[in-house]
Amino acid sequence: MEEVGEIKESTTSSFVFRVKNGVRKFDYVCVEHDGIVLSQIWEIKQQSDGIFAEAHVIGSMNKKYMMRTPFPLGGKVYRANEEIIKRVIGIEREGIYIGLLKDTDMKVFLSPESLIQKHLCVLAKSGSGKSYAIGVIAEEFIKRGLPIVIIDPHGEYVSLRRPNLDRNEMQLMKKFGIKPRSYAKNVFEYSPVCSRNREAIPLFLDEVNLSFQDILYLLPDATSAQKGILYEAWKNAREKRIYFLKDILQGIKEVKSSAKWGLVAKVEQIISMELFSPHYTLIDEIVKKGRCSVINLRGVAPYIQETLVSILLTKIFEERKNGTIPPVLIVIEEAHRYCPERGQGKSLAGDIIKTMASEGRKFGVGLAIVSQRPARVDKNVISQCNTHIILKTTNPNDVKAIIASVEGLNASSAGEIQMLPIGVAIVAGLPLTAPIFVEIRPRETLHGGK
Ligand SMILES: Nc1ncnc2c1ncn2[C@@H]1O[C@H](COP(=O)(O)OP(=O)(O)O)[C@@H](O)[C@H]1O
Ligand SMILES: [Mg+2]
Repeated sequence: MEEVGEIKESTTSSFVFRVKNGVRKFDYVCVEHDGIVLSQIWEIKQQSDGIFAEAHVIGSMNKKYMMRTPFPLGGKVYRANEEIIKRVIGIEREGIYIGLLKDTDMKVFLSPESLIQKHLCVLAKSGSGKSYAIGVIAEEFIKRGLPIVIIDPHGEYVSLRRPNLDRNEMQLMKKFGIKPRSYAKNVFEYSPVCSRNREAIPLFLDEVNLSFQDILYLLPDATSAQKGILYEAWKNAREKRIYFLKDILQGIKEVKSSAKWGLVAKVEQIISMELFSPHYTLIDEIVKKGRCSVINLRGVAPYIQETLVSILLTKIFEERKNGTIPPVLIVIEEAHRYCPERGQGKSLAGDIIKTMASEGRKFGVGLAIVSQRPARVDKNVISQCNTHIILKTTNPNDVKAIIASVEGLNASSAGEIQMLPIGVAIVAGLPLTAPIFVEIRPRETLHGGK
């Protein structure tokens, strides 16, 4: 190993060394102290008597080891090799290939099982590469035949069907070992408004024989008087072998109480959303091995989006609990809209997302929470995510929210998060012993968010 300096000052968790050979901020170095200890350079100082680097301990090859004495002065500092970095940091050796450890040619992988069982969140300001990174992860899921469903408010993921022929990005591909590719056969686009999204398969929800609970779920604000009326109407409708929302509406209209009118308006509004149909889309078509389903919500009014997302996620969760569909990763773009932090608005989809975040791991429903307003996303949901991908974020409140919920980041990370270049992410979460900087790989497919 190449020697890069000698320890001049030390504690049990960090040391300063006089630099002999060029090292840069964030380089990994190691020293011998009862086994090999891996450290990372956090700061470099230039003084009249030389250049000094400050390194912080990440961990030791000897896992059980915890340092109780400072590093000996004069100890030799070496540039860490790939094997030591991988072993101590705990970088997976295969799986979802997201990019290279910054300034190295070491590939960084995430475990697909961990993403599905322990959730992912991708946080950064707008335009810093969140959707791009999710596109990379989607490509890797498709390659493995793992089901993924993307809630796509802007219709930017349908371009997973087309190869990335961007000149600049193609130049980068060699370094990352990537080639343009398309996944036209695996990407299924669904939309409730196919007039806007012409290549999409119509998406309809099942309205046949809704249970009383299902209906209540659609009407979260119903008063107790309204619930009573609804129950009457539902019970009468149920006397038919097959009943629809319109039968329940008819039943409500027949009730002799003025309390019914508010309810009539609400149910009429739901029917007018045209989300429900007897020819509904099967959940086991949307969640299927070898399939990436893009739920394209472009052109759909926000309250309809929420209703749809809420019902769709509830159905997916139910079917997953029953074991009728395989484990799946569900991407929620614009998560601050669907599961807002308390006091930051309400969403019909909030409850099911919270349930999935806390119970999803038991049933194999993974969430990938994506947001440009980390401070506005439900904190419990974010803290349930094991893997965090953080890209450039500048708003101080958002940076604070990120630091508060991501293990391994602290106040001194704030500056780094604010200065991250586009395409570089901080990745944190088990099995990593410390957050790492990753250059996200170029997309194989066209990025639709341009
Ligand atoms: N890893 C990357 N490599 C190359 N270009 C990237 C990368 N990440 C982002 N970009 C560029 O930044 C732009 C914005 O990224 P995008 O993912 O759409 O941002 P966000 O979803 O955070 O708003 C993209 O159009 C792309 O040109
Ligand atoms: Mg985006």
